[in-house]
Formats: sequence, C-alpha cells, structure tokens
Amino acid sequence: MAEYRIAPSILSADFARLGEEVRNVSEAGASLIHFDVMDNHYVPNLTIGPMVCEAIRPHTTLPIDVHLMVKPVDRIIPDFAKAGANIITFHPEASDHIDRSLGLIREHGCQSGLVFNPATSLDYLDYVLDKVDMVLLMSVNPGFGGQSFIPEMLEKARQARARLDKYKDKTGRHIHLEIDGGVKVDNIGQIAAAGVDTFVAGSAIFGHPDYRAIIAAMHAEIDR
Ligand code: DX5
Ligand code: ZN
Repeated sequence: MAEYRIAPSILSADFARLGEEVRNVSEAGASLIHFDVMDNHYVPNLTIGPMVCEAIRPHTTLPIDVHLMVKPVDRIIPDFAKAGANIITFHPEASDHIDRSLGLIREHGCQSGLVFNPATSLDYLDYVLDKVDMVLLMSVNPGFGGQSFIPEMLEKARQARARLDKYKDKTGRHIHLEIDGGVKVDNIGQIAAAGVDTFVAGSAIFGHPDYRAIIAAMHAEIDR
C-alpha cells in the first residue's frame, strides 16, 4: 500500500514571506517541501539556491525535496546537503556522469532521484535503480509554475510504476514515483491511479486561500 505525499512547490509561494509560507503549508498537511532550483542555463528561469534552503530549514520539520534544474549538477550537491536538504533530484541530461552524481547525493546523506522531462526516456533508469530513491516525472516542461499537465504523462507514469514494481519484486525496495507540473484537485485522482505516490503542486496550493482545505481535497481525490 503506497503512502501518498503532497509536496507544495514553494516556487508559487510569496517569497517576501517565505518562512511563514513554509510553516503554513507544513501545518496544513504537506508531506514534503518541494524546492525548485533554476539556473537560467539548464532552464530559462532563475530562482533560489542553498542560502534560501538554509533559511527555510528552521521553519519546517518536513523533508526538503530539492529539484535541481541546473547544469552542471555535482558542485552544488554538497552545498544543498549542508543547507539541510533531505532529497536531491537532478535531470540526467544535465549531468555528465549520472552514476557519480547519484552516488554523491547519497554520500552526503540525502536521498537521491532522477528527473525525467516529458520527452526523456525512462531508459536512463536501467543501470542505476539501486542508487535511486525517487523517480520524478515532469508533467510540464521545466522552468515555470502554472503550466498545464501534459496528458501523455499518465501513460509514462504507468510505465515508470511498472518498472519500479518489477524492481520491488526483485529487491523488496520501494522507490517513490513523484510527478511535477499542472497537478490539480481535478486530475490528481487519475495521476494516483497511474501509480504516482508523491505529488508536487505549486500554483494549485499557493493560489488557494486555504492550504489545509486544498491539501485535504487532494488527498480525498486520491483516496476516492
Ligand atoms: C516547474 C517546477 C514545478 C512547479 C510546478 O519547472 O519544477 O515544481 O513549481 O508548478 P505548478 O504546480 O504550478 O505546475
Ligand atoms: Zn519542481
């Protein structure tokens, strides 16, 4: 039985009141804090780095889920680990040595993950699953909040879940499947049915006046 987790993406939070926003979603039933790192190089937008991760760390006891949209990947990993990150994921296209980057994340005491853009093949998982704790499927092209969910990603989620289930049968180890982009109350049930257990939602949560109500509504749709 999967444990379902909602991960508010602080990309859509009010950055002028970030500590308070993190506390509010943490108290409203979130399971992870999703932290989007963009470098204006790998993706066409620029956001936040390890200093901001360190600044929000005292405001929540939830794991901080750092989604790196940066190139190169490796040199920023130790900085995020020191800043209090718990999970670090990166895009395989942005790393010259994927196996090494995954190892580096674990060596620094964090859980590791690979992120797949909508058109990126899941075959990157073939030889590294032992070093992966979470697979993150992008259901929009990375760079911005507030985009629409790409419907083809439901089939990709089913395929990813099938791979992860096969791996679990062999090893007994559960690898989380997370999705990011365009997740709303009205599609989250379908996405869960496709095998996703961890749901990033930015604009849907921070654009709603009542964080507790919107997170509860998401869980209710998943459980339906
Ligand atoms: C996009 C980011 C997402 C973004 C999702 O590149 O990785 O985490 O915040 O935002 P919504 O939920 O608004 O699509
Ligand atoms: Zn993200």
